[in-house]
Amino acid sequence: MESLPRGAYNTEPGRSASHEIRPLAGVPICVIGGGFVGLVAAAGFVQFGHTVVCVEKDRDKLEQLRSGSVPFYEKDLDSLFRDAQRTGRLTFSGDLDEAVKDQRAIFIAVGTPPADSGRADLGALGEVTEILARVLDSSQIVVLKSTVPVGTGARVRRLLEERAGTDKVASVINNPEFLREGNAVHDFFHPPRIVIGGDRHEAVEFVSHIYRLGMTHPVPIVVTNNETAELIKYASNAFLATKIGFINELSGLCDLAGVNILEVARAIGMDPRIGSEFLNPGPGWGGSCLRKDLLELSGLADSHGYELMIGRSVLEANLRHQEYVVARISKLVGGLRGSRIAVLGLSFKADTSDMRDSAAIPVVRHLLQAGAEVIAFDPKAMPEAPHYLPEVPLAADAYEAARDADCVVILTEWQEFQLLDLRRIAETMRHPNMMDARNLLTPELAARYGINYASMGQA
Ligand code: UGA
Repeated sequence: MESLPRGAYNTEPGRSASHEIRPLAGVPICVIGGGFVGLVAAAGFVQFGHTVVCVEKDRDKLEQLRSGSVPFYEKDLDSLFRDAQRTGRLTFSGDLDEAVKDQRAIFIAVGTPPADSGRADLGALGEVTEILARVLDSSQIVVLKSTVPVGTGARVRRLLEERAGTDKVASVINNPEFLREGNAVHDFFHPPRIVIGGDRHEAVEFVSHIYRLGMTHPVPIVVTNNETAELIKYASNAFLATKIGFINELSGLCDLAGVNILEVARAIGMDPRIGSEFLNPGPGWGGSCLRKDLLELSGLADSHGYELMIGRSVLEANLRHQEYVVARISKLVGGLRGSRIAVLGLSFKADTSDMRDSAAIPVVRHLLQAGAEVIAFDPKAMPEAPHYLPEVPLAADAYEAARDADCVVILTEWQEFQLLDLRRIAETMRHPNMMDARNLLTPELAARYGINYASMGQA
């Protein structure tokens, strides 16, 4: 498909151009940042019919992308990436100044990790904005896909205005991302909603149509102002953390009360006011976003002299829950000192190699501090593991990890752990104990193989 020359829109008859601006065909887009969000968006937009240049400043990653490989594991991204490359409409660049020329929309997808203060570090965004302020003009639209604190869109707009003058300034839109790692490709093509925040109607419409052009089914588009779009993102992640934290805490009570949390979760989830998703107890929520976004939200509240009591409790409860998992393991093996623990699963959830803020990190550290010997295995996160847990030896597979162990601990819900040959595992362990922190198996199944089994609230 030919890319659209700048300024070529369709305006519907009888409507003013300011109300209906529709790209007729593929739009030239620049995506800044070749990480998980940027790359999924870049390849996804190409599938929508757009032409995309993706800017990545890390030279090694750029070379990998140019040579046709994705530098990290994300389910289904390899094939989406290959399909996008085959169209000839996905290219990569290390030169931001050059790459944004003639692009209609510039999607910023750089990281905003927590700084030491707990608030979002906007260093990468600042660098990008400085460059954009020099080179953009008023026909271009800056789209903030990165998760950014409330007020950032307005600050970016002010910076552009200072450099370019109010009449020539590009529009600034907030289009927060709700992709889940491990499901990002699916989520990109099947979003429950798309949020677009901005103060210029034409720009909001243009970004809406970038999505509408490719969606094969109707998707609600929430149009709002920049600040609201920014807060929606934080509120979403904070609420998800609260929901998981709640079910995790309840699983501990179920352990004591002899009630099965899975039945409780299923029944409460049938109420549409509660909803059935994100009610799976685990070893504690993790990943690069939930904690970071709760901290930022709390920081925002503090800056207004307002206390987010629920947000703070959710953070604290998650730490306590990780300790609870360790206490359960200790109970199973009759004291951790001198025990050998096989940890299965290091990534913060299945179908990703990402270990950022994974519950496996604090759980393993607690085990080591208590004097246990730990050996670990993960289907995809092994290359990451030495960075986060350098002291932990890695096994070639789950069976090697389990050999001579006093307890197998499942921390990530990889499907292959559900399919383990439990007879083989039990036979080679020193003591056949298992802490299934993801409820992948059932007490009945474990009992069949003589495994002394503990789980999260599956009484
Ligand atoms: C989260 C949000 O779900 C996305 O909508 C958002 O786009 C993303 O953050 C982001 O801001 O970039 P993600 O971090 O990929 O996505 O992970 P989730 O699927 O939300 O899971 C978070 C953690 O909760 C994981 O450790 C997961 O194992 C755990 N979890 C999730 C449970 O323990 N139980 C559940 O029922 C669901």
